[in-house]
Order: sequence, then structure tokens, then C-alpha cells
Amino acid sequence: MHERTKQQECAMGTGCRKEPVSVFVSLAPLAGVSDRCFREICFHYGCDEATTEMISAQALLYDSARTERMLDKGMEGKLTVQLFGKDPSILAQVIRERFNTDNCFQAVELNMGCPAPKIVRNGEGSALMRDPKLSAEIFRAMVEASTKPIYVKMRLGWDENSINYLTIAHIAEEEGVSRITLHARTREQMYAGKANWGAIAHLKDAVNVQVVGNGDVTTPEEAEEMEKQTRCDGIAIGRAAMGNPFLFRQIHAYRSTGTYAPVSREETVAVLLDHYMREITCRGEQRAILEMRKLMACYLSGFSGSARTKAAIMTMTDMTEIRAELERFRAQGDLFRT
Ligand SMILES: Cc1cc2nc3c(=O)[nH]c(=O)nc-3n(C[C@H](O)[C@H](O)[C@H](O)COP(=O)(O)O)c2cc1C
Repeated sequence: MHERTKQQECAMGTGCRKEPVSVFVSLAPLAGVSDRCFREICFHYGCDEATTEMISAQALLYDSARTERMLDKGMEGKLTVQLFGKDPSILAQVIRERFNTDNCFQAVELNMGCPAPKIVRNGEGSALMRDPKLSAEIFRAMVEASTKPIYVKMRLGWDENSINYLTIAHIAEEEGVSRITLHARTREQMYAGKANWGAIAHLKDAVNVQVVGNGDVTTPEEAEEMEKQTRCDGIAIGRAAMGNPFLFRQIHAYRSTGTYAPVSREETVAVLLDHYMREITCRGEQRAILEMRKLMACYLSGFSGSARTKAAIMTMTDMTEIRAELERFRAQGDLFRT
């Protein structure tokens, strides 16, 4: 966690802020997005912590090669591994065999928030919110097995008629969980509607463990607002970081100086190309190009002329062509994202 005083900030040349910075800003787990390549870029831009994509504990036990790849990690900052599963003994075994001795991970997090039908049908992810007894068994097994802190990421509850995040949070605290990230929506909401930051404030009042607020932070101003409204210990940013790792730098600049620079076309193209190169090194050119399509569109969004470039790159399968298209894009239109 950052604990920079005003004096230190000034000495570092980052400008004088009104308050010491103490709330950390993390990259939320994003399946298909928060892989090692993207996390490294986010750390470069000032994110304080990151979490892996959710990884099946069961698949890890059976050594699925695809799942193994999701554990790829590099020269990163504070990294948490996120597991999903519903079997206390499997989760405990995976922690003992894989994570207790792996110094790249500072903590292990249980996913209690994933709303995807194929996950909840199996009783995992946000479906665990419906079973406080099983949740308690899982927390206990994970805490007992682990030499590292155990975190939980949860939602408000299953639907608006079964809001039970405080109940689950109290159980988690009693069982030794040391951090709770609350994506302040129900499972039924999926990603729709507005996240209920009031619930994050209630959670912060109700427990003594660290509380991380999550949901709908898209600008430095909103990050500050979430801090103020909830007094959370940390903020997790998901969708707004996709194609926009610059947000972490902007948040730190805003805290330090009260202002921040807009994102430039030049830097966006440079970082997007860097991201392509990292993915190609990890996965090979063909897979990287396919898997980068969604993120490429996120990077270019908000710049004039981006629709044409995005449509063109969506059909390309060759990095030389993509690079040429991005060079054309770099040279045309407004300098900054609007
Ligand atoms: C593409 C995508 C993948 C996600 N994958 C995960 C995941 O693996 N584990 C998890 O706990 N949450 C996952 N989430 C949820 C986010 O971590 C976050 O809770 C949610 O997007 C709300 O935060 P935001 O408004 O900052 O995006 C995912 C969300 C998206 C959009």
C-alpha cells in the first residue's frame, strides 16, 4: 500500500497533494484480458496491484495445459492469483501444492462473483453467495492450507431479494479471510445498472478486514469519489482499464496535482504495438492477433477516425499489415482521445 506523505511527494517531484495517499489502485481480474502481458503494462503505468484471470482450481489439479498458461507471470508488482471452485479440499490442495511456495503470488483470492451461466450452473462463482455454510467451509479450508493471505471477491448477493454480502463478509472475517473486494452489483444484474457504492461503505463499516471497492470507476475523478464515499482501502478497476492502462497514471497524477494529461494518439499506438509484441512472444502471432481484436478496439476507441481503423484490423491476420494500419492511424486525426 502507498503511504506517501505530502513531504515525500514534493521531494519526488510529483507535486504537492492535500492528503497522504493511502488507497491502493489495482487491476481487477479480467478473464481473457488480465494476462501477464497486460498486467506488466498496467504496472508500468502505476497500478499498485493486480489479480490474475480466474483460474479453475480443479483444472490446476489435473494439470490442464491451458490452465497452466494462465499462471504465466513475469517481472510484475504485487500479484494475487484468483481461483474458482466449490470443493474445499480441492482448493486447499491446490494452495498447498502450487501456491504456498510460489513467491510470485502475494495472496490467493476466491472468486465468488462470476455470474457466467456455465460457472454458476456448477455452483461456483457467484452461486457460492447462496450457500453461506459451504462458503464458510471453503474459507476455512483455504485459510488453513495457505501460508499467504486469503482474499475473497464477491457481489452484493444473488439478486435484489437475497442481498447477503454482509453475512458472507462476517463469515469470511471470522474464518480468517484478510481482504474482501466487493463488486457492488448482484449476480442478476451481471454488469448492468449502477454499482451500489453505498454498499461498499456499509461493508467498510461492518468489518475489520481490508475492503476493496469495485464497480464503475472509469476516471480519476470517480476514483476519488469512490474513496470519499466508501473510505475503502483499495479500488479495483476492470473494464475502464481495458485498452486504457493510462488510467492508472492519470489517477496518481490527479491525486498528486489535481490534474492529469489526456491520453495521446501517439502513446496509445506505441503501447498497443508493444502489447501486440508481448502477446506474440507469449502465444505466437496468429493467436495473439485473434485474441487482441477486442482489446485493440478498446485502445483505439475515443479517437477520431478509429472506426475505420478498427474495422480494417478486425479482418487482418498479419502483423505487418496491422502495424502499417496503425502507423496510418497514428498520423491522422486529433492528437488526443476525446
Ligand atoms: C471481460 C471481463 C472479464 C472478467 N473476468 C473476471 C474474473 O476472471 N474474475 C473476477 O472476479 N471478475 C471478473 N470480471 C469482473 C471484474 O473484475 C469487475 O468486478 C467488474 O467488471 C466490475 O468492475 P468495473 O466496473 O471496474 O469493470 C470480469 C469482467 C469483465 C468485463
